[in-house]
Amino acid sequence: MSHRPRIILDCDPGHDDAFALIVASKYTELLGVTTVAGNAPLELTTRNARIILDLCGSHAPLHSGANRPLVQPPVFADYVHGKSGMDGAVLPEPSRPADSSAAIDFIIDTVRAADDVWLVPTGPLTNIALALTRAPDLASKVAGISLMGGGRLGNRTPTAEFNIWLDPEAAATVFSCGAPILMAGLHLTHEFQATPGRVSAIEASHATLGPLLGGLLRFFARSYVDRHVGFEGAAMHDVCAVLALTHPQLFTSAQRFVGIDVCGNFARGMTVIDERKLIHRPSVNTTVLETIDADAGFARICEAVASCP
Ligand code: RIB
Ligand code: CA
Repeated sequence: MSHRPRIILDCDPGHDDAFALIVASKYTELLGVTTVAGNAPLELTTRNARIILDLCGSHAPLHSGANRPLVQPPVFADYVHGKSGMDGAVLPEPSRPADSSAAIDFIIDTVRAADDVWLVPTGPLTNIALALTRAPDLASKVAGISLMGGGRLGNRTPTAEFNIWLDPEAAATVFSCGAPILMAGLHLTHEFQATPGRVSAIEASHATLGPLLGGLLRFFARSYVDRHVGFEGAAMHDVCAVLALTHPQLFTSAQRFVGIDVCGNFARGMTVIDERKLIHRPSVNTTVLETIDADAGFARICEAVASCP
């Protein structure tokens, strides 16, 4: 069972962003895609988004956004995603350019013009923060923000997850804006691994696209299996932020206050989750996703791949 939420996907493809795009193109009303620098420089994340939109037959508008975080200098994750931002397969040339470089205006105009729009950021939160700052009315107009980021552990540092770590100032703006927030953090997404069996199932889902996606996943897996204890494949982080809206029944969650550390030494970029069982404590601002039915989630990915042209 799924329902078709109306979303703008803000991403930094990125292997897992690519699968979030494919799942979103099948299961959501994809009003548009915006890109941000993160896993790779903006021109590469935008190029990769153009390619994936072609592969899933989507004509959704595409607008590029911020090419660097609000404060700290850009850092890229080529050690995970490769120099292209999406290494591991021979990819076709994109068929169309981005529609504009005005992602922030697109987000503002689209949310103001339509009801029940979810913002789904799967990269650093720079574009979302810029939109909220330029148009504070968005916080009460959006249906909510379903993001991949943060968690009870880090990956870029012991305490900070890459999306939040790269732009903590942007994350602080987003988590304090007052809009409903769904957070797919690493404690959840590390349970959503593209194991070899699941990669084979994705490959078998589409005669031509399957092998290409399998190559991407095997490349993506390397930085997990080779660098971590106990991983059987790549964590498909960003897909969780989409599935949380299209298939909420796959998840359990908890209502928590989440704050962002922007001044710490060891903890800069940490999502501080208030677990205290106090009667009087900071008011809840986030639905923290806790568990996922991973087999069912991967079955939805296979269905989305199978539905590509
Ligand atoms: O830490 C994981 C996140 O950082 C994912 O969104 C991945 O695509 C990278 O952007
Ligand atoms: Ca991402």
